[in-house]
Amino acid sequence: MATTIEELEKRREAARLGGGQARVDAQHKKGRLTARERLTVLLDQDSFEEYDMYVEHNCVDFGMETQKVPGDGVVTGSGTINGRLVYVFAQDFTVFGGSLSERHAQKICKIMDMAIKAGAPVIGLNDSGGARIQEGVASLAGYAEVFQRNVLASGVVPQISVIMGPCAGGAVYSPAMTDFIFMVKDSSYMFVTGPDVVKTVTNEVVTQEELGGAVTHTTKSGVADVAFENDVDALLAVRDFFDFLPLSNRHDLPERPCHDPWDRIDESLDTLIPDSASKPYDMHELIRKVVDEGDFFEVQPAHAANIITGFGRIDGRTVGIVANQPMVLAGVLDINSSKKAARFVRFCDAFEIPIVTFVDVPGFLPGTAQEHNGIIKHGAKLLFAYAEATVPKITVITRKAYGGAYDVMSSKHLRGDLNYAWPTAEIAVMGAKGAVEIIFRKDIGDPEKIAARTAEYEERFANPFVAASKGFIDEVIYPHSTRKRIALGLRKLRNKQLENPWKKHDNIPL
Ligand code: HXC
Repeated sequence: MATTIEELEKRREAARLGGGQARVDAQHKKGRLTARERLTVLLDQDSFEEYDMYVEHNCVDFGMETQKVPGDGVVTGSGTINGRLVYVFAQDFTVFGGSLSERHAQKICKIMDMAIKAGAPVIGLNDSGGARIQEGVASLAGYAEVFQRNVLASGVVPQISVIMGPCAGGAVYSPAMTDFIFMVKDSSYMFVTGPDVVKTVTNEVVTQEELGGAVTHTTKSGVADVAFENDVDALLAVRDFFDFLPLSNRHDLPERPCHDPWDRIDESLDTLIPDSASKPYDMHELIRKVVDEGDFFEVQPAHAANIITGFGRIDGRTVGIVANQPMVLAGVLDINSSKKAARFVRFCDAFEIPIVTFVDVPGFLPGTAQEHNGIIKHGAKLLFAYAEATVPKITVITRKAYGGAYDVMSSKHLRGDLNYAWPTAEIAVMGAKGAVEIIFRKDIGDPEKIAARTAEYEERFANPFVAASKGFIDEVIYPHSTRKRIALGLRKLRNKQLENPWKKHDNIPL
């Protein structure tokens, strides 16, 4: 018996060594942790239960039969984050550069299948040279098996990718199909083809970082959600983020004891809106003053910042928040902000997370750049996402709600459950100046007349009461009572039931 246990310990030790000390040192030199070190930071102490530690590749080409490392370049298993179950894989760059073999893929697929059955999220820590070159099509098949599971798991369990090293070629498509992607600055990159191929094909000279680094993907492309300074920061943030998410689409929302009174009044909100309609204010201030303890996890803060998306809690339970940001492009809806918010709304709806929407939107962004790049289709994504969502939807219009954007932003007409407006709300087809210049075009040469018409239009529409008189706004509320009204609404809507007509699936304008 003693020898058998010794043998087990030896085998475990060999697997834990990964690709050997020299490669571990090289990983550390790059400022990166190893796969196992990363899991130690991510998971609760001693909660990690590893599977498939002794799995080896089955490749016999290019001398591979003599080079086998137990675990085959990926550490897989389950554990807990603040006591809640999660399935994980962490690619081990010290073993064949974390490249994906058939067996490596099988290990990932196994934990994904377990997660779907058990109803728990999957977190993947990606650090890989891509397809195991020696294995050829067997590796490509392995990727496709993972892709298939990404799709089946979508909307069933939350999937989070953390890119902590290379992620290139077709390998990018697995993270791309997960719900959230976090990246580490100066250490991770994602691209379909690298700088060398780019140079050959398009003659562009670009660095890895510029092409697909964390900053590029969290600002320009919007492929990734948040960029972090280093491995530890990223993993600790994932822990915080995880706490907001339900375990699956059949679990209830996580609930946390809340020390912030649900009916807390915040008088400072009564003066948040500046006197001049053209002056911006920071919508973050409202969000932080409304959510429990000011704790707000923003998703995609640096991409399409004219709309804010993220998670907070009200009364101890998670809410998804979508808010126009008057500080950036006056909070206008454009292609990027529509796509960003649409995907967020769909995530919330898939996992029964109520959506709170704060509206201050001057409309859709005009211009050839927007039209030629398809603002019609992209704007429709957000409209579609709100309209199909059956979760509790509470909307607060703080200032402008103009034109089609009024309809889009979780209006009453899209089955908004509670639609509130502050007294400062202006709900109209467009701003007074633009409106008067169209309907009183003949008076344009007469500034006095135009001023009088503008004042008349403002008097009529620059308020929430016309909409309220039609029942499109349920109540005009005091800004200071916003948290209380939302918390009360969410309590009342907890057992909301609403189903869309049966269909195989819808056809959102992609
Ligand atoms: C097998 C690989 C590998 C791979 C790296 N290694 N990538 N082994 N298959 N894809 C091995 C290296 O041989 C080396 O082994 C070790 O991992 C570390 O690699 P280095 O090159 O020394 O590391 P570094 O200098 O940091 O460069 C990392 C890298 C580079 C940029 C990722 O390794 C690289 O370019 N790799 C190839 C990338 C690639 O073309 N992959 C295929 C993409 S196509 P030793 O023994 O020396 O330590 C693809 C298709 C997916 O992925 C399709 C899905 C549909």
